[in-house]
Amino acid sequence: MRVLGIETSCDETGVAVYDTALPGPAGLRAHAVYSQIALHAEYGGVVPELASRDHVRKLLPLVRQTLAEAGLATSDIDGVAYTAGPGLVGALLVGAGTARALAWALDVPAVGVHHMEGHLLAPLMEEDPPEPPFVALLVSGGHTQLVAVEAIGRYRLLGETLDDAAGEAFDKTAKLMGLPYPGGPQLAALAEKGTPGAFRFARPMTDRPGLDFSFSGLKTQVLLGWQQSDQSEQTRADIARGFEDAVVDTLAIKCERALDAAGSDTLVIAGGVGANKRLRAKLQAMCAKRGGRACFPRPSLCTDNGAMIAFAGALRLEAGQREGAAVNVTPRWDMAGLPPLAAARDW
Ligand code: KG4
Ligand code: ZN
Repeated sequence: MRVLGIETSCDETGVAVYDTALPGPAGLRAHAVYSQIALHAEYGGVVPELASRDHVRKLLPLVRQTLAEAGLATSDIDGVAYTAGPGLVGALLVGAGTARALAWALDVPAVGVHHMEGHLLAPLMEEDPPEPPFVALLVSGGHTQLVAVEAIGRYRLLGETLDDAAGEAFDKTAKLMGLPYPGGPQLAALAEKGTPGAFRFARPMTDRPGLDFSFSGLKTQVLLGWQQSDQSEQTRADIARGFEDAVVDTLAIKCERALDAAGSDTLVIAGGVGANKRLRAKLQAMCAKRGGRACFPRPSLCTDNGAMIAFAGALRLEAGQREGAAVNVTPRWDMAGLPPLAAARDW
């Protein structure tokens, strides 16, 4: 089944074609992402109405470009998947409306995909994919969650952030030290030049049992450290390194606890912060030490993209799941409420 995937939940327009007849990474026939970073940069964050309007401008040209790269015509598409939530309502509606119109015109089924399920399943597009049960760490700009994946489509929340998401903490910390939006990747790059241990910040909520996170206090610690410093380039890099180490250590400690709690040695990491090099190395080492493994998508499939939506949608379409006539999006959406994949056929 060749599925066209469309992602428009926030500030990236993503389109891809995934073909379930081809094994592993070869199934991804083509994918393209258009980032709106430049559009939002002067406002220091995403402006929802501008995001929606830009998706309107970019989505159809990107669909044409992706199909051309895959060497496919619209008539080769067997199904359309789109992000139905969580995300910005206007941005989601652009993708949903376009996807449903395409599916209707092509007379193929359509399915709305949960954005975080898309992230979670992205590592399964890679070589030698892990099989459930496993534990997943979802770390994006809007979410930080530990999830027990009992089967594809059966998710149990083990812990989540009580305030800022990990990516949000990266972005806000970068901003308060004067780095441009979105600061996460830039802060990580700066940390490479920092001296380890020059600044040591807390590992929040690791001194008590539990799998929840809290990152907003860390941001305040950085602010105080930065304000009281000489604010030189080297100090900025040292603080970036101290902050990154604190977040990475905290995530690793909680991941290990979650693996213990779930009785698993397989950890899947997904979402934008999964592109972070130090996090990848730390979690790989932690899992290897217990005789297990850490599975990541390639960095370009960690951040928002259409491939993960095409892939997750293909699994659900193949299980018989389809949308009815109404076009709905769900800006706030709990992943635990998703139908399990096997039972989707009975829906
Ligand atoms: O998954 P994603 O693309 O979008 C959401 O669904 O939120 O994640 C974006 C987040 C941003 O907060 C960004 O700063 C962060 O991921 N991010 C990183 C890195 N690359 C992206 N954070 C730390 N290190 C990176 N290399
Ligand atoms: Zn995302």
